[in-house]
Amino acid sequence: MKDKERYKTNFESFVELLDSCNDQASILKVVKNDDASFYLNGGVDDFDVIYAQLTRTAQKILSNIKTLEINKEVEKIDNILDVGSDFKHVLACTTFFNCFCLDPVVNDNKTFEDLGISFFRGEAQKIPFKNNYFPIVTSLHAIEHFGLGRYGDTIDPLGDIKGLKEMHRVLKPGGIALFGVPVTTRSRERVVFNVERLYSVSTFNKMLKDAGFEGSIYRSLVVPAISGEFPSLKQSKFYNRSEIILKNMSDQQIDDFVDHFIEIMIDGVRNGYSDPTIEHVEAAYFIGVKKCG
Ligand SMILES: C[S@@+](CC[C@H](N)C(=O)[O-])C[C@H]1O[C@@H](n2cnc3c(N)ncnc32)[C@H](O)[C@@H]1O
Repeated sequence: MKDKERYKTNFESFVELLDSCNDQASILKVVKNDDASFYLNGGVDDFDVIYAQLTRTAQKILSNIKTLEINKEVEKIDNILDVGSDFKHVLACTTFFNCFCLDPVVNDNKTFEDLGISFFRGEAQKIPFKNNYFPIVTSLHAIEHFGLGRYGDTIDPLGDIKGLKEMHRVLKPGGIALFGVPVTTRSRERVVFNVERLYSVSTFNKMLKDAGFEGSIYRSLVVPAISGEFPSLKQSKFYNRSEIILKNMSDQQIDDFVDHFIEIMIDGVRNGYSDPTIEHVEAAYFIGVKKCG
């Protein structure tokens, strides 16, 4: 099937399935991705900075894992499951753990013993491991894709919700999960088919709670490389930052903050201070959560 035809078929089945799932999906608004060409601003693009910061934050937490409470509750912190993250993250994880990677784009299941990496072809919606198996699970900038078919996985509007439930199932009680997803303002929340879902922070937090995760050990807003001039941001302490740690804030306060931050960037685009399209203005939310022991 040609790409355009496949896109049309997948889009139609996604919308049909979405209609039939009785508002259980995380996001109900679906828009087509008319312009698949992502904005690049030359050398380092916004997404590179977001991915790099998510990886760095995850590594920072993982390298201190022995000092976290998890150590008291989980006997051995040996294995980590990563679902669909960047390979750089996975590779860095092998410094501390045996790494199991699950991704639909893996060709063959394969273990590299000297590297400490095992690859598994599969989908987050059906993780091929038993309950309570991993002390740590990570999924960075991947959950938003589950079930959109972009990477050859099964079309399923509930893919992100099912994936989170599965990651909770395979996590040991007392274990931790690290997640990163793209976020936008509450009013701009949407599924950009078949690229990604853009959540509000409170929607994603609700999904985590519904999947069974409790509390959080770390939360931050990861912001894109800010190219161009943003007069209103330049005066703030957030200029030239790629991560804003969100401490002691309610979901409502974080949503307000994200709305405010993204509106500033949108203003910058409207006023010609920067050149991505408004559709491509987004940030990421990083969260570390626990499975109740
Ligand atoms: C945007 S990429 C990850 C980010 C990474 N920084 C990159 O640049 O490729 C999303 C990843 O999620 C994986 N993925 C998509 N759908 C999935 C699913 N249903 N289950 C597990 N992984 C999935 C994709 O194959 C891809 O490797």
